[in-house]
Amino acid sequence: MTSPNEIPLDFTTLPADEMATRAASFRASMGRRRTVRQFSRRPVPRAVIEDCVMTAASAPSGANQQPWTFVCISDLATKREIRLAAEEEERRFYGDRASAEWLEALAPLGTDADKPFLETAPWLIVVFGQRYGAGPDGGRVKHYYVPESVGIATGLLIASLHHAGLASLTHTPSPMGFLNAICGRPENEKPMILMVVGYPADGATVPAIGRKPLGDVTVWRE
Ligand SMILES: Cc1cc2nc3c(=O)[nH]c(=O)nc-3n(C[C@H](O)[C@H](O)[C@H](O)COP(=O)(O)O)c2cc1C
Repeated sequence: MTSPNEIPLDFTTLPADEMATRAASFRASMGRRRTVRQFSRRPVPRAVIEDCVMTAASAPSGANQQPWTFVCISDLATKREIRLAAEEEERRFYGDRASAEWLEALAPLGTDADKPFLETAPWLIVVFGQRYGAGPDGGRVKHYYVPESVGIATGLLIASLHHAGLASLTHTPSPMGFLNAICGRPENEKPMILMVVGYPADGATVPAIGRKPLGDVTVWRE
């Protein structure tokens, strides 16, 4: 099936050895990515954030609807407002909302309701998913596969931040609705991920957790 407007594909076929080297080296690099929860105040240039966000926004999306908005925040007052609201929600979460199973799953990570990184990290990127859009006549346009599309875009964002030499924390305060008001986003947009971005604090540590081996995460039929 062809659509009326087709353009030549920009694609380079790599020699097999180069392909293998690149795949292995990207795997090794991404294998060093860790979720960081202790951030330095060291600033990060906006241009770097722009590039990483635009890599995220190049993600495939259902029907090419690109149902995302990335709210990029370095303003201290806004970060503080987000920290206070998130900590209030998290105190409720850890106080009575979280199930025993959920608390047990979180235990190895040592997370709690204090979120100083929301203020110390130079950038917060709030990823909103657009549940529906506006048509030319202002009517609602249904968006397809929003969580899948936003999840893929967020994956690209995390990878590009890591590739640029930055640390990130994928944060999901529960619930996240307060972010609409603080970020000034409309009702059709749902906050899905609060990405904390910057350099790790000196001496930052991460939980000693492992990743499943190839055999546990894949099934092959060759
Ligand atoms: C959808 C999602 C939500 C997450 N939410 C939080 C969170 O709210 N707080 C937190 O400290 N880490 C959060 N994380 C980070 C995970 O705990 C972390 O990715 C996991 O423990 C593996 O560690 P690693 O990223 O260092 O490999 C989240 C990760 C994902 C993918």
